[in-house]
Amino acid sequence: DESAGDYIARLTRTVPDFPQPGVTFADLTPVFADPAGLRVIVNGLVEAVHAPGVGEVDLVAGIDSRGFLLGSGVALMLGTGVLAIRKAGKLPPPVHSREYTLEYGNAALEIPADGIAFEGRRVLVIDDVLATGGTLCAAVDLLRSAGAEVVAAAVVVEIAQLRGRDLLGGVPLTALSLQ
Ligand code: PRP
Ligand code: MG
Repeated sequence: DESAGDYIARLTRTVPDFPQPGVTFADLTPVFADPAGLRVIVNGLVEAVHAPGVGEVDLVAGIDSRGFLLGSGVALMLGTGVLAIRKAGKLPPPVHSREYTLEYGNAALEIPADGIAFEGRRVLVIDDVLATGGTLCAAVDLLRSAGAEVVAAAVVVEIAQLRGRDLLGGVPLTALSLQ
């Protein structure tokens, strides 16, 4: 039988030199649109809670934008709520904000600074792709600065040669497909 990682890899569309020369874009659109693909992904991400030392999770955070699609499914499976970690400028003030560097340019991630009690929350962070790790690292730092504890992170695709995993410090990372 084909493994989850192989199934995901087979349906992933890899686009060289997008959005700029030298960057290889892993487009998961066909996997998300495939019934078995979506199920394999969400079930695989849920398994992140069983990694050593993770323990209880009481909030799932999905990173703008494809992390939203997955975070909601994972949260439903785990029986938690879901948090959207937004790109800058989308949320009303007050916000917690964290700048980061992408393979192409700079950006910032934001979460509300009002209305959610982050202190002591045990968060699982979800995104589609780990490349340089800048995005996921910014999300982890952002949640920590708000008072949350990031107990695990999970992505669908890890581009291993970029070593983004090394930026995550002690946060256990689950990746379903290595590229
Ligand atoms: C892509 C991808 C990850 C991030 C990974 O998002 O969805 O979030 O890049 O790259 P990194 O590990 O080098 O930070 P992108 O910023 O293109 O935005 P999008 O998800 O809104 O399309
Ligand atoms: Mg993204």
